[in-house]
Amino acid sequence: MSNDSITVSTTVSITRPRVILTRRWPAACEAALAQTCDVLVNAADEPMDRDALVRALRSCDALGATVTDRIDGDMLADPARRAGMIGNFGVGFNHIDIDAARRCGVLVSNTPGVLTDATADLAMTLILMCARRAGEGERLLRAGAWQGWSPTSLLGTQVSGATLGIIGMGRIGEALARRAALGFGMRVLYHNRSRAPQAELALGATWVSLKTLLETADFVSLNCPSNAETHHLIDAEALVRMRPSAFLVNTARGDVVDEAALAEALRVGRIAGAGLDVYEHEPEVHSGLLSLENVVLLPHQGSGTAATREAMGNMAVANIRAFLDGRPIENPVV
Ligand code: DGY
Repeated sequence: MSNDSITVSTTVSITRPRVILTRRWPAACEAALAQTCDVLVNAADEPMDRDALVRALRSCDALGATVTDRIDGDMLADPARRAGMIGNFGVGFNHIDIDAARRCGVLVSNTPGVLTDATADLAMTLILMCARRAGEGERLLRAGAWQGWSPTSLLGTQVSGATLGIIGMGRIGEALARRAALGFGMRVLYHNRSRAPQAELALGATWVSLKTLLETADFVSLNCPSNAETHHLIDAEALVRMRPSAFLVNTARGDVVDEAALAEALRVGRIAGAGLDVYEHEPEVHSGLLSLENVVLLPHQGSGTAATREAMGNMAVANIRAFLDGRPIENPVV
């Protein structure tokens, strides 16, 4: 930890377990944890580098981590590691080497469910923004270049009634399908390893192959986890399969898309546009994307509502506390 670290607990004692939070958490969550633990917080609230994370794992009983922490196998196999548990503040856990955690006997928990609605809301936001050229319109207006209404300016694509293809029909995929089908009258196609009978019955969602989904959908939304199977699932070849009038939306993880291939496809108009909330090398964004008008770029805001972040924090706190009390954790990944 840097000199910026702060202790949240009011009564620091050597008998209470020690928890390190790698970022600031909502104040109520930090305070709840501090009732039973000595909590050390990275007050700088900037991503911790590898050395700082190694030191943290050596000096606490449980680590409260986030998507900005890369926790690799060597860090987990470190003989000097003290932490026996990582309470991840987030549902995605691709930043933690889960196989190594399993091998090393380190428990990992995540926060499923509580961010479903917020993330599905943001996916819908991106669909609407890229289809209706909202970012482009706002930039034009702010630049003082708006000449007033005209019948032919800034024409976008109709979302209502269009076909949405969802890749990854877990909780968030299904919540997006509900919004799209019931709110916007969209036809929903999906591709997933297992079928989603509930979405088929209630929303008329149809399972299709990945190829059919890419070739048919007006909007392709990525809602799958990041893993070896989904790495660069959307590459140059997949982008060629998409309709030239189609849009790609990603609220899952950046590395599901080959960002360089996407930048090129958008530049030459191989697809109509994209809405992105996540990136391959966050916080860096491929330079080819930054100058394009036909892509909406948001800074990983999917779960970013105050209520959702507090619910995520409370869930992570409950998992950490359970571990420290020797009880089973409610949301184990490992
Ligand atoms: C999640 O919960 O996975 C969010 O993307 C933040 O990590």
